[in-house]
Amino acid sequence: MASEKYICLDDFEKEGQTKIPSWFVDYYATGADEEVTLRDSRLAFKRYRLRPRILRDVSIRDLSTTIQGQPISFPVCLSPSAFHKLAIPEGEKETARAAEKCGTLMCLSSMSSTTMADVADAAPSGLFWMNIYILKNRDVTKHLIREAERCGFKGLIMTMDSPKLGNHVRTARRRMYDVLDDRFVRASNFDIPHIPEVVEAKKKEPLLIKYFVSQVSDSPTIEDVKWIKTLTKLPIIAKGVLTGESARMLAEGGVDGILVSAHGGRQLDYLPAPIDALSEVVEAVRGYPVEVYMDGGVRRGTDVFKALAMGARAVFIGRPALWGLACNGEEGAAQVLEILRQELSLAMALSGCSKLSDIKSSMVVHESYYHNAKL
Ligand SMILES: Cc1cc2nc3c(=O)[nH]c(=O)nc-3n(C[C@H](O)[C@H](O)[C@H](O)COP(=O)(O)O)c2cc1C
Repeated sequence: MASEKYICLDDFEKEGQTKIPSWFVDYYATGADEEVTLRDSRLAFKRYRLRPRILRDVSIRDLSTTIQGQPISFPVCLSPSAFHKLAIPEGEKETARAAEKCGTLMCLSSMSSTTMADVADAAPSGLFWMNIYILKNRDVTKHLIREAERCGFKGLIMTMDSPKLGNHVRTARRRMYDVLDDRFVRASNFDIPHIPEVVEAKKKEPLLIKYFVSQVSDSPTIEDVKWIKTLTKLPIIAKGVLTGESARMLAEGGVDGILVSAHGGRQLDYLPAPIDALSEVVEAVRGYPVEVYMDGGVRRGTDVFKALAMGARAVFIGRPALWGLACNGEEGAAQVLEILRQELSLAMALSGCSKLSDIKSSMVVHESYYHNAKL
């Protein structure tokens, strides 16, 4: 619900940055290198124009849909993002309750500061996917998948764009990764006492980000994805895909969903804005049983509308939920989601859409459509 203080998502970003220590702000906000992709992911949305239909009955709007067969009340979900306890002491439990309250999906980061079991307990009717990376130690991957199944998670979202960590400029200036350890926050999913290699590796490398990076495989292949598929019946969603070629390879490898994403501009700089890459991916997997989603720079209901028109089944948000948490915990994260719901509902009404399937690709064009017409 929009309040006087928070009218739009930018209000949460502005206020959220004043609520937590500045080096945590830098961790959440940073992009890679020159932050071109970070900025462009938001700006790119502004380059598309809407072509509404008029004279339609929009008195009732239905925003509900499904994601991998599970109902959600509207097509905005939460991307995995690390360490919610840097924003608020209860961390991911609060985010989980916000997503549950809003009837949508939350992805729990591999580097969450709360365990899967605690998240599931905090929001017993919540819908969750677990974020997994391709790790060097396959026993750890197996353990995380079994735990996700045991805790009732409904999907695995596999990060594909991070065989190495991007150059996080703002945290590098603060030397944050040389300091961040268990004194501040825990990487709870990696507290695995029955896998001695993990215990040893954590002893050797107590710095959290450095530890995690040391665990991630820097030689991943499609065979790893196929192997993970043999371990579980949960749907596999590939995250961090930006080209038709990669999307087709993954579709043929049997993934169930693709999240078009530039990792919030935190990995390779000069990647395209995900909204610009979306259509290519949608086209590449047409005919395959694969749902396509996108994240990166979504801050407005009209952004969601544009992504849906361009073929996304749902969009995901990363930082806005963190700023919501920093401002006002569970309530703040829920407000962020509710503002997007209301803005999407309004954009639909003003475009002549009463349900999501009324949103057609012809309703969005690149701004050049109008500029060229004037020449
Ligand atoms: C602080 C932070 C931590 C993140 N941690 C992860 C992660 O653990 N796994 C992952 O796949 N993506 C991670 N991401 C990327 C997000 O899932 C998502 O792709 C990105 O934030 C979307 O862009 P947005 O912040 O503009 O919405 C993280 C992003 C942020 C801001």
